[in-house]
Amino acid sequence: MNRAVNLAEVTAALTDARMKESTVWTLPARWYADPVIYEAERRRIFSRQWLWIGREAEVAEPGQYVTAAPAGFPLFVRRAEDGTLHAFHNVCRHRASKLLTEPSGRCSTIECPYHGWRYRSDGALDHVPLFGEAPDFPKSELSLFRISVETWRGLLFVCLDPEAAPLIEWLGPIEEAFAQTAPARVNFGREATYVVECNWKTYIDNYQEGYHIPPLHPSLHRDLDWTRYRVIDFEGGSLHDGPQRNRSNHPGSYGWRFPNFCFNSYPDGVSFLRMEPVSHTQTRLVYQFWTPEGAGPAELEAAAAYGIQLAREDIGVVEVVQQNLNAGVYERGPLSPRHENGLYNFHEMVREAIGPSVEA
Ligand code: FES
Ligand SMILES: [Fe+2]
Repeated sequence: MNRAVNLAEVTAALTDARMKESTVWTLPARWYADPVIYEAERRRIFSRQWLWIGREAEVAEPGQYVTAAPAGFPLFVRRAEDGTLHAFHNVCRHRASKLLTEPSGRCSTIECPYHGWRYRSDGALDHVPLFGEAPDFPKSELSLFRISVETWRGLLFVCLDPEAAPLIEWLGPIEEAFAQTAPARVNFGREATYVVECNWKTYIDNYQEGYHIPPLHPSLHRDLDWTRYRVIDFEGGSLHDGPQRNRSNHPGSYGWRFPNFCFNSYPDGVSFLRMEPVSHTQTRLVYQFWTPEGAGPAELEAAAAYGIQLAREDIGVVEVVQQNLNAGVYERGPLSPRHENGLYNFHEMVREAIGPSVEA
């Protein structure tokens, strides 16, 4: 029994059954271009799911921190003196300044640059300089807004929900799929970022199908047996199975976890990818390349060049698609039961999260 069959057994083929009953359709075009929908997504999707924001190595030492602003939520992760990782919204409880303004760094205390309020590593308000005598000043209630933080395979994830379910549960079958195809040990190589002129969902839609591989990615088409490419949905995400052709180095397995975390795992390295909304019209694509222990710069550059070539091909088409979604002619399109079940899986999650209140 091969790996793909195993994965199919442990994951429910939810969408396939529904797609057999009738033709299913994409989300309305308006949902890819509407600031009201985007605001609902920030509150009901990006505030509730785990989000990959960086690397654990960036906060290896006590006092080290990284800042991020996924979907417009400024936040930071910092390692305390006792080694514990803490994450907070990057907002001072006085008059809302950001506390840490660099992308990353090291600080012995968390001190606001605006009026000098100081917070302890656990977020408690510690020092309020020269404030005057304010009656009933609720100092103990003015701790930083805590969020959840966890690590997985050297990556840092946060969830704005301070009571989030454990990251490993959220990842579901991704851990097993990754472990089966990735090298045992990988080291960070490099990161590439692109600001793409599209809604974040336009990029996820593109990631979620292999239908476009023959026309759009000739090199990938040569490397994998596209006729056997399939997307296996699970509750919360999809695994992609791209069987390798003989002697090819590149094909492997791919996976996406709602809303915006993807991995590509190959025998010669892995890459991680996220499509981070900047606004309802723009998406930051962050691509990290990790190579197996012992690999040199040439292997890293080869893997990165391959991934970047594919990303450029995808960026080209999603920006064109976005222009047409914005234009107001096209309303929605049919999804292929053979190739686009992964989009349906994604769209159902968006519909469920957004709810009927903003239904088109
Ligand atoms: S806003 Fe932070 S101390 Fe005033
Ligand atoms: Fe693609």
